[in-house]
Amino acid sequence: SAAPLVLGIETSCDETGVGIVRGTELLANTVSSSVEEHVRFGGVIPEIAARAHLEAFVPTLRQALDTAGVTLDDVDAIAVTSGPGLAGALMVGLSAAKGLALAADKPLYGVNHLVAHVGVGLLDDAADAAAAGVSGGGQPAAVTELPPGTGALLVSGGHTEILRVRSLTRDVELLGSTIDDAAGEAYDKVARLLGLGYPGGPKIDRLAAEGDPEAFRFPRGLTLPKFVGTAEQPGKHRHDWSFSGLKTAVARAVEQFEVAGRPVPTADIAASFQEAVVDVLTAKAVRAAGEHGITTLLLGGGVAANRRLRELLAQRCADAGIELRIPPVSLCTDNGAMVAALGAQLVAAGVAPSSLDIPADSSQ
Ligand code: KG4
Ligand code: ZN
Repeated sequence: SAAPLVLGIETSCDETGVGIVRGTELLANTVSSSVEEHVRFGGVIPEIAARAHLEAFVPTLRQALDTAGVTLDDVDAIAVTSGPGLAGALMVGLSAAKGLALAADKPLYGVNHLVAHVGVGLLDDAADAAAAGVSGGGQPAAVTELPPGTGALLVSGGHTEILRVRSLTRDVELLGSTIDDAAGEAYDKVARLLGLGYPGGPKIDRLAAEGDPEAFRFPRGLTLPKFVGTAEQPGKHRHDWSFSGLKTAVARAVEQFEVAGRPVPTADIAASFQEAVVDVLTAKAVRAAGEHGITTLLLGGGVAANRRLRELLAQRCADAGIELRIPPVSLCTDNGAMVAALGAQLVAAGVAPSSLDIPADSSQ
């Protein structure tokens, strides 16, 4: 097959991920997480994350190669996240990738974590079956031509952006973004307020299912006319989000119950908070898409695992005639398969490999 076999390495935060793809076909996606080691601190401790990558990397690599049934020699290229992320954590993956590339004489591709989150949606739909060790379906494609009018909604712990994506191998254009907290960050902060612990996103997702999303009417940031304007006369923040006011409103609601000595209705608050996030995220993404001629929308990032977001975005995209591509949950949070998938696109597009002295770019 002409499709390149690519190994992808991801160590930007607390997940050690190694993924293997052949073109757009997923062969393996092995993830080892240090999340449990950070729980008692209420957030990721960079040095603990870096040390955990150092210990987990080789076993994770071995398992991914076993699952895919390939050896390092079979691989056509090695892709690795070069940023953004935690510097020390990135350096572990980059060092490992450079060593492998040098020893096995394979080209190395340093890739951007955010673009990888977006590009993962282009993997074949048989992804979950392949990840479970079942042979995947479909003919592997060498390179995926993005349909004209492709956009992406990227929602992670560090970013909340709506993008126009002309090509995964070239730059993407930012149409709107959060002006304060990222959506995932808001989930994590509100989870802490509700005493749910870290990481907050999945916990709120679960608790919200037991609550009433209309119990509280929490604010939808940057939706006032002065920020939004009109299509002809766009306001300064027409396609932007803000989640810090929402977080404050939740804190105030919790406080009111505590001051009154009444039990905090955590499920109702979680459900209402989630509804506010997902409502404004989807409404603004769909509006930006409509006004910028986006007809295919890729969803990516850790918050894309959220059940309510997946549901409401699907509904609103269908109403607006936008084709939505949502990756399986296992590919939404940080993983190596997304890095491998983007690497395969770069190889197939004939992009020159990175040099073996590429730095960890924690802020790019
Ligand atoms: O993409 P990701 O794994 O790491 C970054 O690149 O930031 O995203 C992590 C974020 C965290 O804030 C986490 O709370 C959130 O994604 N998250 C969720 C869910 N699963 C993870 N947020 C809402 N609902 C979920 N099910
Ligand atoms: Zn991420």
